[in-house]
Order: sequence, then structure tokens, then C-alpha cells
Amino acid sequence: MKLMKDEIETRRTFAIISHPDAGKTTLTEKLLLFGGAIREAGTVKGRKNSKHAMSDWMEIEKQRGISVTSSVLEFQYDGYHVNILDTPGHEDFSEDTYRTLTAADSATMLIDAAKGVEAQTKKLFKVCKMRGIPIFTFMNKLDRQGRDPFELMEELENLLGIRSYPVGWPIGMGQSFKAVYDRHHKKLELYNPDNPKDIDIISLSGPDDPKLDEVINDEGLVAQFREELELLDVAGDDFDVDLIARGELTPIFFGSAISSFGVQTFLQHFLSLSPAPTVRESTIGPIDPKTREAFSGFIFKVQANMNAKHRDRVAFLRITSGRFKRGMSVKHVRTNKPLKLSQPTQFLAQNRSIVEEACAGDIIGLFDPGTFRIGDTLVEGEAFEFDEMPHFSPEHFAAITVKEALKHKSYEKGLQQLTEEGAIQLFRTYNKYVEQQIVGVVGVLQFEVLEHRLKGEYNVDIQLERQPFSFARWIDGPSKALATLKEKQRNLVTDREGRLVALFENEFQMRTAQDKYPELTFYENSFYKKSII
Ligand code: G4P
Repeated sequence: MKLMKDEIETRRTFAIISHPDAGKTTLTEKLLLFGGAIREAGTVKGRKNSKHAMSDWMEIEKQRGISVTSSVLEFQYDGYHVNILDTPGHEDFSEDTYRTLTAADSATMLIDAAKGVEAQTKKLFKVCKMRGIPIFTFMNKLDRQGRDPFELMEELENLLGIRSYPVGWPIGMGQSFKAVYDRHHKKLELYNPDNPKDIDIISLSGPDDPKLDEVINDEGLVAQFREELELLDVAGDDFDVDLIARGELTPIFFGSAISSFGVQTFLQHFLSLSPAPTVRESTIGPIDPKTREAFSGFIFKVQANMNAKHRDRVAFLRITSGRFKRGMSVKHVRTNKPLKLSQPTQFLAQNRSIVEEACAGDIIGLFDPGTFRIGDTLVEGEAFEFDEMPHFSPEHFAAITVKEALKHKSYEKGLQQLTEEGAIQLFRTYNKYVEQQIVGVVGVLQFEVLEHRLKGEYNVDIQLERQPFSFARWIDGPSKALATLKEKQRNLVTDREGRLVALFENEFQMRTAQDKYPELTFYENSFYKKSII
């Protein structure tokens, strides 16, 4: 058996962040295929599993027409054990999407080269930035005419505030797409439009190698490529692993996921540059998976009724140190109670399998009869807790009331459950004669989920009255300024922990409030008391 330290060193747990339609499903599929290809050469069992996973996964994609929520996909490649955390993206975009990022050690930002940085990518990027995790960029769909690569780099800097270093650089694009040059390995990956899967890789002595003229056979393109590379070398950022590790510089790769083009090169660089599971802060100081042998982990997502037949809940746990073994006893720190982890599942798509063992970096699903809340810590040995899981600003709001007053008790219970699962955020109006409950969600689908689940699980009908707000800001600062704000500002609410939150309809409203109260800070998430998440 591998030593724990070696096992951790080869773990890579990451999420793909992108805007719908950029090609996340396609890229994930290709990554799994590469993983599967390795398995084919290795074990038969592995091959069977990977094929199974692929088809199940695609079937669900088809049925729902949206990304499968809650999947954790895993594959082996070149000695690495890779976990891809799926971030729900289309209509099912929710706070879970953000929270999933707290379980990832790095992120791959997938961008449609014709569209550049889009809204959802920007939101997800912000969460990664806040955590300071490394971000790798894959510019996709080079087989179609896209934007100029320099323009795309500029956009990363202007819209996201991140510098970049292209590891790959394209020669041509769309109709004239010829190849991607790997600046690190000095290799040319040739694109063959008639048979994109047939990928030729040629080693060069550098961009000036005459072989380049020969294989590209387009004087104009080659001249342009050489000029561009020179510009990158002279005026571009240097490759700096420390900046990459802190998420301040993103390595860029170019390719076409649908043609598997550039995917393997990306994967190889990604695996060697991305971090293994690292230290996380806790109430007893840093928890280092490389030195702490006792098991620990935290719940980052609770998913209800994944399987309609079972109507159960699954809590997703990210292992932060030690080894998980089926049946082991751990402490549930919030309730200070022992727990036996007997029915853990691992997620290869929707295809659940019982997991016997897992190690730091892995994600396991725990059967949840209602025990777990987002952010709960489970430990073996000395008890501690990880930092609280932050709430992110909802984007849709509604006043909520129960239709039949007699069902108030079930209604409150249901709301509490859904809030603890993190499906919704619940606020109370502040300083109003009649207190009102306001529900906030990140994706509008969550309103439907809320209605459906309160009815189905608690037999409660609710009324939702949509509010015009589009975001929330947690507010903190000197008490005098807070007191004035509390007196004068409209649309103040408190969150479940009693923190003060202001709701705004638009940026203009918020800026006006900020100008009025310059001593106060308006935070985009509830985590303002900590510097990082
Ligand atoms: P998503 O999960 O990010 O939403 O994107 P998805 O992979 O579903 O891809 C969205 C669309 O973009 C799909 O086309 C897909 O085939 C296409 N696509 C993905 N990668 C590439 C690429 O490298 N080049 C080109 N040209 N297209 C790409 P669709 O028409 O919506 O669906 P389909 O009928 O092709 O499945």
C-alpha cells in the first residue's frame, strides 16, 4: 500500500468554473476519457467502471438538459488521483456552486474564446480569488473563430484582475487553426481538422526552428506567431510558480475540447503545477494533511433526495487529513457526539458505490438523516472546527408566508431544515412594524425547489412574493455609523446569525449607501470577520 504522504502528494481535487455553454461538460468528458484510457492499459475493472460512469453521466445530462448537480468525478492519470468537483451551472446555479469551491484545492477556468469572460465565470472566479487558490485557464473552441488571444489576456486582467502566462499559444484560429505551441516543452501540437482526434506532436528547438515553417506551411501565420511569441517573451509576465500558487497569475492553455485538442497537454501541465491537498485553518491552528494522521473533514454541501426512490439526504464531506475507513468512529464536533461512518458513498457521476477507504483530498458522501449542517467538522482525536462556511450574496429575493397559519410549526421546521442544508438563506426585516421573513437564493430555481420541498416533505403551502432586490451586502464598521445606518437605511434585514445585511436593487443604490456611510464596509459574503475562506 502507498504511504499516506505519497497518496496525498498525488491527489488533485479541483473544480471547473465557467459560464454555461463554454464546454464544461465536454471538457470533463474528455478528461475522464483520458483517465479511462490509462485504465484500459491498466486494470480491466478500472475500464469497466470508467465506461459505466461516462454513460450514466451522459444519460442524466441528456434527461435533465442541465449539468448534473452534486457529482464528484474521479479518475487516475499518470500516477495521479484526480477528483473533479462538478459545479452546477445552468438553471441549477445556486449557493452550492460557490460552496463547492471551498472544497477544491484549485480551479480550472474554462472560457469560450469567442465570448471571453462571461458573467457566471466572473462570480465563480471571485470565490476562488477570495480563497487564494491557483486558477488555470483553458481557452476553448479554437476550432471556431474567436477573439484575439492578447485581447483575451487583457480581459482577464481588466475584468478579473488576474495576470496571465500563456503556456500554450495558438497558431491560427477557426478556419485557419493549425496548432498550439507549448512554450515550456517546446512542442507543437498539430491540429488536423479532418480528423481532430489524430494529434501529431512535434518537438522544436524553439519558435525559430525551421521545422515550424515546414509543418505549418503558411508564411503569414508563422511570421505572426513568431512576432507574438517575441512580444510575450519581452512584454509578457514571467512564469512564476509562487504567483500561480497564490492565484495571482493564471497559466493559460488553448484548445478545442470537442476535438480533444490541447486537452492532454493541459492535463499534464495542470497536474504538475496544481497543488496537492494543503493546509487549512482551524480553531486549533493549521491542519496539515501531510503531518496530521488523524482523520478530519468538513461538510460543504447537503443534498436532499438525490435519488427520488430513496428520498434520503447526502452530506458531502471533504477529507482534510488522515484516512477514512468504512465503519470508523468520529466525533461530530458541533454536537459533541460520536458518529459511526458506516454507509459512505463515493460519487462517480450518479452511480453510487460504497467507499471503503479514502484519504485527504477525497470527497465522500455520507448518508444524512438530518444530522449535518453545512460547515460541520468531523474529527478523529482532538476536536476542532474549521472556519465557518460563508454565505454568499443571493440574487433573488422573496417575502415568504405560510398559507395556513395552523401549519406554522411544520413551516418553521421545514424552513430551518432547508436553511441548514444551505438551499436558501433566510432573513428577517429589521425595524419594521410587522416583521417579515425574506428568502434569498442565488439561482431562481431554488424558489421552485423550496415550494416543492415544503409541500412534499412538510405538507406546507407557501406564498412567495418576489422582491425587487438583486443582491445583499453584509455590513460592519464602527458602532456609531452602524447606529445611524440602522436608523436611516431602508431595506435592512438580519441573517440567521443576527448579522446586519442591506438589500439593494442595483449597484447605484449600493454606491449611494456607501457614499453616505464611508466608515462602513459592505461585504459580498458573510465571512467578513475572517480574511480568507
Ligand atoms: P457546458 O457544459 O459548459 O454548458 O457546455 P457543453 O460542454 O455542453 O458545450 C456547449 C456547446 O459547445 C455544445 O454544443 C458543445 O458541443 C460545444 N463545444 C464544446 N467544446 C467545443 C469546442 O471545442 N469547439 C466547438 N466548436 N464547440 C464546442 P451544442 O450544440 O450546444 O450541443 P451538442 O449538440 O454539440 O451536444
